[in-house]
Amino acid sequence: MSTLILGIESSCDDTSAAVTEDTKILANIVAGQEVHKNYGGVVPELASRAHQQNIIPVIDQALKQAKIKKNQLDAVAFTRGPGLLGSLLVGTSFAKAFALAADIPIIEVDHLQAHILAHFITGNANQRVPGFPFICLTVSGGHTQIIKVDDPHTFTLLGQTIDDAAGEAFDKAAKIMGLPYPGGPYIDKLAGEGNPLAYKFPKPRIKGLDYSFSGLKTSFLYTVRDKLREDASFIEKEKANLAASIQFTIIDVLLDKLTQAAEMTGISDIALAGGVSANSGLRKALKEKGETKGWNIFIPGFEFTTDNAAMIAIAGYFKYLRNDFASQDITPYTRSNF
Ligand code: KG4
Ligand code: ZN
Repeated sequence: MSTLILGIESSCDDTSAAVTEDTKILANIVAGQEVHKNYGGVVPELASRAHQQNIIPVIDQALKQAKIKKNQLDAVAFTRGPGLLGSLLVGTSFAKAFALAADIPIIEVDHLQAHILAHFITGNANQRVPGFPFICLTVSGGHTQIIKVDDPHTFTLLGQTIDDAAGEAFDKAAKIMGLPYPGGPYIDKLAGEGNPLAYKFPKPRIKGLDYSFSGLKTSFLYTVRDKLREDASFIEKEKANLAASIQFTIIDVLLDKLTQAAEMTGISDIALAGGVSANSGLRKALKEKGETKGWNIFIPGFEFTTDNAAMIAIAGYFKYLRNDFASQDITPYTRSNF
């Protein structure tokens, strides 16, 4: 018999609900929040208010699209953390109430583990999934981590950023260039028309498998500031080259440590996860690196790179198989459990 899970994601600024049947998606609805656009970043209070408004219609739509009635569901999986407390509380409280009413168990899911387990969502018969153990580079707006995955429940952190996340590096560079928030996708688009070697930014020298991106942002800021003094239209003229150069450097830094991790562990199944894995330059560079290194590369479909509830439902499914359920007194956590 198959297992039907309702997944709920509300950790940041997307309200999402999904219904899965084992590892197959029946519905995956994501409601973004336009309200933050004018503020250059996510405003926590506005995010939780928007989640409150969105959560019922989003869940309703997911169930309708999946053609599943509440009483057919086997469990509700929800994002427990990390994320914004007010936002997490909306999804957590809703999951608890829904499960009580439907008399089904709840399953807590770690958002970062879910990004990784999104690789096990099965779409078509030819789909490859990573073999265990594999290494996953998770790159999002809040996190940059290299993780060894031994099985769907065993994650070991090998390295992480000591300051800004890779997504923040993209977003901050975009902000300096006057691009809208979140700027990652704008940088990606502009980079396609620019020369990645037009500007050189020093790569951070951090020991081991950790990352640092705050120095890169400062060096980008100083370059732009100095050039603007000479020519007020510098950004407008050079935006494609600036975008291509900063993107090239971020990718170079990301792949350097990932390569070290693969070499240290001898693991050759390498996966990418998180919002920044939508970056076309990163996807291409990783594929090329994989060919030269003999790695098996796993890159998520675009709809599973940014936040979505399908990944929460899949992560929940793996826990369901172990009867790993949460109790009604569970509360969210805002920081990564690693
Ligand atoms: O995983 P995610 O949706 O949310 C977090 O959990 O943070 O990641 C959002 C991040 C943002 O920093 C955004 O700029 C970045 O992912 N991003 C991109 C691209 N698409 C999204 N960065 C670079 N290139 C892209 N195409
Ligand atoms: Zn995320």
